[in-house]
Amino acid sequence: MRTRRTGKGGTRAGIVVAAAMCSMGVLLVGSYVSAEQVNRLTIEDLTIETRVAAPEGHPLGSELISGWEFRTPETQVLQQDDFQNPAFLWVEQAEEAWETEEGAAGKSCASCHGDASESMAGVRAQMPKWNAAAGRPMTMEQHINACRTDRMEAEAWKWESDAMLGMTAYLGLQSRGLPVAVQTDGPMADWIARGKELYYSRVGQLDMACANCHEGYYGQYIRADRLSQGHTNGFPTYRLKWQKLGSLHRRFSGCMKQVRAVPYKRGSEEFVALEAYLASRGGGLSVETPAVRQ
Ligand code: HEC
Ligand code: HEC
Repeated sequence: MRTRRTGKGGTRAGIVVAAAMCSMGVLLVGSYVSAEQVNRLTIEDLTIETRVAAPEGHPLGSELISGWEFRTPETQVLQQDDFQNPAFLWVEQAEEAWETEEGAAGKSCASCHGDASESMAGVRAQMPKWNAAAGRPMTMEQHINACRTDRMEAEAWKWESDAMLGMTAYLGLQSRGLPVAVQTDGPMADWIARGKELYYSRVGQLDMACANCHEGYYGQYIRADRLSQGHTNGFPTYRLKWQKLGSLHRRFSGCMKQVRAVPYKRGSEEFVALEAYLASRGGGLSVETPAVRQ
């Protein structure tokens, strides 16, 4: 097989993806699933339910439907095979980072958490998770950075850095197939209520709320893009348009910009509250991290 040439202008992510596609081309002969065959999300032995019954009185009606269902067959296929899913390049790097000692305390994640497939199983499904010491819910990113700064005495990772995206993808993967089940009662109730308020508030020059697109019009096209119910179960997600993995808060930010609103910051209370509300709204859908989107 010939090596694909990446021009000078190629971004790092572009190069990584191109490299992955080259090496995967060899591995994938015979395992390619043609577009016509695709209708269920099966990854190796794991079949993920992409439609689940919604609880009585759910604002989305009778069924919760994963964003995967709304994508084209060509995009769906990429999520059905970890060798074709470009997010796994980040996952592999995170797997190494998990074992790497860093910071003044001389520890790695593994020094305390051992095998991620055991210690982190089910964790993503509960995010964002109430943290009593902090007195607020914390997202996966915030938990990771708290461990880095307080326990490893290492530098915090930037929200949208490759290292953070990779680690959130790697940890999320340990919950793949498990139902999203965020805490909704106790101290989480206020946060979820705040997220709900944001979800239904009209913002921006176009004066639209999240619900106007994702509740009212899912299944319809908005320009070339088909609207989904806007669930969070696949994040961080590899987006073909971004040519890289992106965080959920990046997606929120993009949606706010679409209606010409000034987005909140990644990690802000507003976005954490929205994340908590959306996780509760999509409760019961399976974690699909890392998903692939257009
Ligand atoms: C010195 C030990 C130590 C190190 C090193 C460490 N952690 Fe932690 N981590 C903890 C402890 C203890 C908790 C539990 C805190 C709690 O329950 O409030 C925790 C909690 C977490 C959680 C939340 C788990 C849950 O169930 O809510 C995540 C995610 C996490 N760590 C990821 C990491 C990652 C990724 C690294 C490496 C970058 C790391 N940790 C390094 C000790 C450590
Ligand atoms: C003008 C319409 C519009 C509005 C308003 C909007 N979005 Fe979106 N959103 C989109 C489009 C288009 C996509 C990409 C296709 C899809 O997955 O729905 C998307 C995708 C998403 C996704 C990713 C779903 C997946 O499975 O990958 C999430 C989560 C999301 N939006 C949340 C929000 C939130 C939260 C708000 C309010 C702050 C919001 N959106 C407002 C149009 C909108």
